[in-house]
Amino acid sequence: MTNFRTAAIALVVGVLVFGAGLLAGRLTPHRPAAPGAAAPPASKTFAPPPDESFPDTPFGREAALGREIFVDTGRAAPQFVGNDLRCVNCHLDAGRLPNASPMWAAFVMFPQYRAKNAHVNTFQERMQGCFRFSMNGKAPPLGDKVLVALESYAAWLATGAPHGAKLPGQGYPKLAAAASAPDPARGRAVYQTYCAMCHASDGAGQSSAGAVVFPPLWGPRSYNWGAGMSQMDNAAAFIKANMPYSEGGRLTDQQAWDVAAYIDSRPRPQDPRYTGSVAATRAKFHDSAQSMYGKVVDGVLLGGDGPPKPFSPPAAHPPRGANPS
Ligand code: HEC
Ligand code: HEC
Repeated sequence: MTNFRTAAIALVVGVLVFGAGLLAGRLTPHRPAAPGAAAPPASKTFAPPPDESFPDTPFGREAALGREIFVDTGRAAPQFVGNDLRCVNCHLDAGRLPNASPMWAAFVMFPQYRAKNAHVNTFQERMQGCFRFSMNGKAPPLGDKVLVALESYAAWLATGAPHGAKLPGQGYPKLAAAASAPDPARGRAVYQTYCAMCHASDGAGQSSAGAVVFPPLWGPRSYNWGAGMSQMDNAAAFIKANMPYSEGGRLTDQQAWDVAAYIDSRPRPQDPRYTGSVAATRAKFHDSAQSMYGKVVDGVLLGGDGPPKPFSPPAAHPPRGANPS
């Protein structure tokens, strides 16, 4: 028992130390090519400039600020962030990693038509959506310093990339439809085996010394019901290629679909486009097999907890070191 406890504590401490290295930007995810995921051969992948090799120019300084916001969003842009996530939590290695929706590949594809809001979006407008949904926050106004810095960072990463090209490694590699319908109950078992050690069994993530080391996957401090990650196909694609952390490709496609269904059928903050009724909000924004919003899972009506909570910046939230139980 004692040995077991010691080993368990050592594991958790090790995991937190590993996470702290991540936070400090010392570790980057390196992984074997994901079998089955459409990982492009390294030679064909666009290579952004070496990390942080910014020129000492006004543009270089703006791009450097953008990197800082990207990796530490809640601290560098607290006025726009309403949860415990950072851009880098989903766009890994400071937005550089292929198949983790890298910013160099995104930048060259804008302006772009998006069905989500049915008009042509600029790159800044695309990022406004991430603040509103993925960060459960507020969209910075177009032209705001925060968006200009983030856009400069993405433009710098894309130095030399052909504009308008869909570069290998863009986005998260889509998975084929699941052989058997994604099942949250099966996904729960996958979660406990492969994910809970870092993200905690209640999905709330883990903090160390007041800093979030493993980000929350559901609950009030995670992405909201309007986020791309709340759609099971996006989550399954991200997870298959990138999780467990640094072990992309380890799960089978079916496991990735099932665990995505599990995560995306847990409670999370209301969709900020909420119309006043769950059924109407589902009909208007979630009329898709990929969204569990408005469904009853394990006795809970997803999205059924009333209007969006008022925005409050990260500092006003309870201490982040709180022990996830
Ligand atoms: C919870 C995970 C998550 C977080 C946090 C997040 N994003 Fe995203 N982001 C996604 C997903 C998922 C997509 C793809 C969504 C889709 O296709 O609908 C995406 C897409 C994008 C794209 C378009 C990529 C492309 O190739 O077209 C940009 C740009 C982007 N995010 C920027 C950001 C920025 C900037 C932040 C921080 C302010 C951020 N994201 C935070 C999950 C996240
Ligand atoms: C070794 C620890 C570890 C394990 C195990 C792990 N993750 Fe993660 N996960 C992370 C870290 C760290 C990040 C943030 C990456 C970054 O910021 O560079 C992350 C990010 C994520 C995100 C995007 C951010 C968010 O909070 O929504 C999702 C979704 C996710 N993980 C799902 C999973 C799933 C599903 C599993 C199990 C199949 C899993 N993870 C296993 C460490 C882990």
